[in-house]
Amino acid sequence: MHLVPSPEVPVVTLFERVGGMPFFAELTRRFYEQVALDPVLRPLYPADLGPAEDRLRLFLAQYWGGPTTYSELRGHPRLRMRHAPYLIASAEQRAWLSAMVGALDGMAVADDDRAELVAYFEMAATHLRNAPDH
Ligand code: HEM
Repeated sequence: MHLVPSPEVPVVTLFERVGGMPFFAELTRRFYEQVALDPVLRPLYPADLGPAEDRLRLFLAQYWGGPTTYSELRGHPRLRMRHAPYLIASAEQRAWLSAMVGALDGMAVADDDRAELVAYFEMAATHLRNAPDH
């Protein structure tokens, strides 16, 4: 018996297509610039946004096929559990999404990659909602 060689189809991840870590660094920098100014979101976040920005950058890079530094530092993402301390109703969900889509809007990214990112952010923000409207 011999192993059938697998076809040599290179897998190009979204992480690579958008330009790797610099893309996620800029995206999360722009996102947190908006968080800093957002009256709904700002009170939820710690005084120092720098470490939060690092966590989000590393998580997103890992999710889209980049280095696994996030899990090496933080373990399994378990995002529902990690968001449990924050009240996330539709206003918070909307504010988060609009800060993220706003951050993405100013960046050079191909239409289909942008659509993939936005669909994921919408899905994830819906999944992380944990409170009825208040
Ligand atoms: C739905 C609205 C959301 C709100 C209000 C929200 C709020 C927060 C807050 C207050 C933190 C703590 C900041 C820190 O110290 O790290 C946090 C952490 C985090 N959030 Fe969100 N978030 C939302 C959605 C999302 C989504 C959609 C994602 C992923 C696509 C995400 C990914 C993360 C990650 C990776 C962390 C750090 C987790 C860790 O401790 O390692 N969040 N979020």
